[in-house]
Amino acid sequence: MKPHPLPHDSLAFALTQSAQVLAWVANGQSLTEALQRLPSATWPAAARGAVQDIAYSTLRQLGLGRALTAQLVAKPPQPLLQGLLVASLVMLIEQRYAPHTLVDQAVQAATNHPKLAGAKSLVNAVLRRFLREQETLLHHARQHEEALWNYPAWWIAEVRRHYPMQWEEILNTGNQRPPLTLRVNRRWGTEPDYLQQLHAAGLDAVALLDGGLRLTQPVPVQQLPGFNDGWVSVQDAGAQQAARWLDVHDGMRVLDACAAPGGKTAHLLELADIDLLALDQDEHRLQRVEENLQRLHLQAQLRAGDAGAPQNWWDGRPFDRILADVPCSAAGIVRRHPDIRWLRRPADVRSLPQQQARILNALWPLLAGDGKLLYATCSIFPQEGESVIQRFLATQADAIRLPAPGQLLPLAHENQDHDGFYYALLQKKR
Ligand SMILES: C[S@@+](CC[C@H](N)C(=O)[O-])C[C@H]1O[C@@H](n2cnc3c(N)ncnc32)[C@H](O)[C@@H]1O
Repeated sequence: MKPHPLPHDSLAFALTQSAQVLAWVANGQSLTEALQRLPSATWPAAARGAVQDIAYSTLRQLGLGRALTAQLVAKPPQPLLQGLLVASLVMLIEQRYAPHTLVDQAVQAATNHPKLAGAKSLVNAVLRRFLREQETLLHHARQHEEALWNYPAWWIAEVRRHYPMQWEEILNTGNQRPPLTLRVNRRWGTEPDYLQQLHAAGLDAVALLDGGLRLTQPVPVQQLPGFNDGWVSVQDAGAQQAARWLDVHDGMRVLDACAAPGGKTAHLLELADIDLLALDQDEHRLQRVEENLQRLHLQAQLRAGDAGAPQNWWDGRPFDRILADVPCSAAGIVRRHPDIRWLRRPADVRSLPQQQARILNALWPLLAGDGKLLYATCSIFPQEGESVIQRFLATQADAIRLPAPGQLLPLAHENQDHDGFYYALLQKKR
């Protein structure tokens, strides 16, 4: 007999869908793409939220979940079953649901899925055994570094090698839920002005030392006063540093060379009346820049193109300022994208610096004499930051290095809370 479809508001439904998302991520897809692949347009918002929550939480503890399944299942399960088991185990560890409810719903999820129905007894047996023996099983699993830290072993080794004093804090910060940090649109008002608006709406925020307001309790953006009218944007406090360091003034000609989705583009346009070209290789992602600028009532010229091949899009007029927010491993923003650590490979950290140097070298001739270029990544690996800049400076006689934060490590403190970034500011000799 064909099983009834699971109700959208059931935990079994959320477990099934998140198992599918986890299977796609295990197959190399990003979490964002995997979530977009679900036929979720007609689901209630709460169902979408539940799936997202389980998928994100599971990826934050994937090392532990995998080590536990390896102990509990004799041979490696197929990806969908692995997804269901790991998600269920993580939910049991996090005690989000009553244990008997979770086990019952995980078995329901298996029963109702054509590819999992044969495994319903196994799901039942595995989860019940975990509940009986969890102390021993967890102790045993955490003997393995990947299960203890929830990062691949090569990633842990890399962070420990570069940051022998801070590696534990860096890894721990990456496992936390990210804050919701706001950038107040200078054209609308100041941070104290917006704090008042938040208070009037029954919300609260902390003013961060590096700028930005971190909401005490994240809420959907539609609940933020004036969001649709462009009073504020959501942007990490570390990302908010880029536009400030670039030091733009009215009338300047500015290039944002890797612009999408446009967080920093919009910030630059809020700070001064500039003539800005927002370039990105990905035409699809450029639409996000367009949407962001529309909401904020800002204007720029948008163009699809390869920052490393200016001959295809540059009109020959030099820029006073260039932002090169180059593609990178994104190792500094893992608390927002918990899939990144599982998708990256050591080879990426070797090949990305070549791409980054190619873009930097191609953009440098476009900068006017006395002009400034900010090189930025959202990585914590020095191969993508300081090493690229050192090599560039060694060959570029007309480049001067100006003060800038350099490597910003991810922090989650009371009034300093940001992702990991790298910023180097270069000026061209006249
Ligand atoms: C780190 S993201 C930029 C984030 C953006 N600056 C912001 O603050 O919202 C890097 C961007 O570089 C783009 N990109 C990658 N390779 C590129 C290239 N060769 N030329 C131009 N853009 C590129 C990617 O499509 C991606 O949108």
